Amino acid sequence: MTTSAKSEYGSFRDSLRAPIHRWFTYPAGYSHKLVEAKIDEYGLGAGSTIADPFLGTGTTSLVAKMVGVNSIGVEAHGFVHWVAKTKMRSSYDLDELAQSIHQATQRAEMLAGRVQWTDIWPPLIYKCFTEDNLAQLSALRQSILELDATPHVRDFLKLALTSTLRVVTTAGAGWPYIAPSKRHAKKVVKHALQEFKARCDLMLSDIQQAQLGLPHSSHDIILGDARKLASYVEGETIDLILTSPPYLNNYDYADRTRLETYFWGIYDSWADITSGVRDHLIMAATTQVRMAGMNGIRECQGIRQVDGQIHRDLSSIIQRLEDMRAVRSGKKTYDYVVAGYFEDMLQVLEGAREILKSGGHFALVLGDSAPYGVHVPTEELVGRLAVAIGFSSYEIEPLRTRGGKWGHNPQRHKVPLRESILTIGK
Ligand SMILES: C[S@@+](CC[C@H](N)C(=O)[O-])C[C@H]1O[C@@H](n2cnc3c(N)ncnc32)[C@H](O)[C@@H]1O
Repeated sequence: MTTSAKSEYGSFRDSLRAPIHRWFTYPAGYSHKLVEAKIDEYGLGAGSTIADPFLGTGTTSLVAKMVGVNSIGVEAHGFVHWVAKTKMRSSYDLDELAQSIHQATQRAEMLAGRVQWTDIWPPLIYKCFTEDNLAQLSALRQSILELDATPHVRDFLKLALTSTLRVVTTAGAGWPYIAPSKRHAKKVVKHALQEFKARCDLMLSDIQQAQLGLPHSSHDIILGDARKLASYVEGETIDLILTSPPYLNNYDYADRTRLETYFWGIYDSWADITSGVRDHLIMAATTQVRMAGMNGIRECQGIRQVDGQIHRDLSSIIQRLEDMRAVRSGKKTYDYVVAGYFEDMLQVLEGAREILKSGGHFALVLGDSAPYGVHVPTEELVGRLAVAIGFSSYEIEPLRTRGGKWGHNPQRHKVPLRESILTIGK
């Protein structure tokens, strides 16, 4: 494996071109090549099991399925979990699938001219599409929801339509946040119905290919919480845990899927997304902090009980962040976020230790961070915490430097950041 390929391990770029992985563009996702390389490195095969506590859209489980390794994945964001689950199904009747695609598009073509699409969505949706495309998207949505098909076929079509949304939007910024006010003046607007058909054809051909000879294996895709890993998985049964948790970079996973969840009517407001998603994720963004009731969090009681020195090191970072909050614009509550993050990661580590076989490994793709310019060596702190709770060792392999694209921003700190693989041995 060349170094340049490894530098992309933490990015979704390779997966955008890979069958099935490409069904949904998840910028937080990682490369299928990383999972293949780790399965090789640790010699996993039939009968082995790999777990991913932050499954996202399913990269780890999908690779495991393709090579015949069992997998268990946990994801807390309901919509993202649904994407992973839909990508994991391959046992379709291809004729039925092709016929349903045909029926749904034909009906949508007929409906597009007269479908009632006003007043059914939050304003964001109206700002993101041309009138023509919104009529087509509405018609497709209605024809899929009303189609006489099995739930699996309907999910397949819903995913094809979901991934059409970002392709045909007129909004300027795609990911992570949709910014409808910044329209792309020069963006050529694609035709929603045509794009949908193209997505369906691509997905259908991926399924045809996948059905040609998948080895047998079993997969459990759980809508759950990485902090409760040991409650889903039997003790000492896992050969390898491979994952990428949220980084401490103030990235709001709940907000980033607003376009999709609003379109399907899963949520329709900030408060809805908070109770439906934000409150269930590990702490990694200031939008998850509610000052009331969170005061004690900065004391990091769990970490204090595990290791005094780590607790002192972390407390000094938290104190500097509190000091910065008092003087910096935005008054961002990074002190709370950092404290909550490591307390949450401690719980993930404890569960991981319980479910791993003796001699097994826990590999995490992880970035460090520098909120308000205060460096937080995330990989090192998580590695030290792991050893403090009984793992035997940890090792950090840097993959690439990060943050370069913000270099022109004078508000931005100048601390060099990186993305690494932290490997913890049991
Ligand atoms: C970096 S992404 C993982 C992406 C994944 N490797 C992929 O290729 O799609 C981190 C994921 O962790 C999820 N997450 C955050 N908190 C969680 C929790 N407490 N339990 C399970 N998943 C969680 C987020 O919703 C997000 O999808």
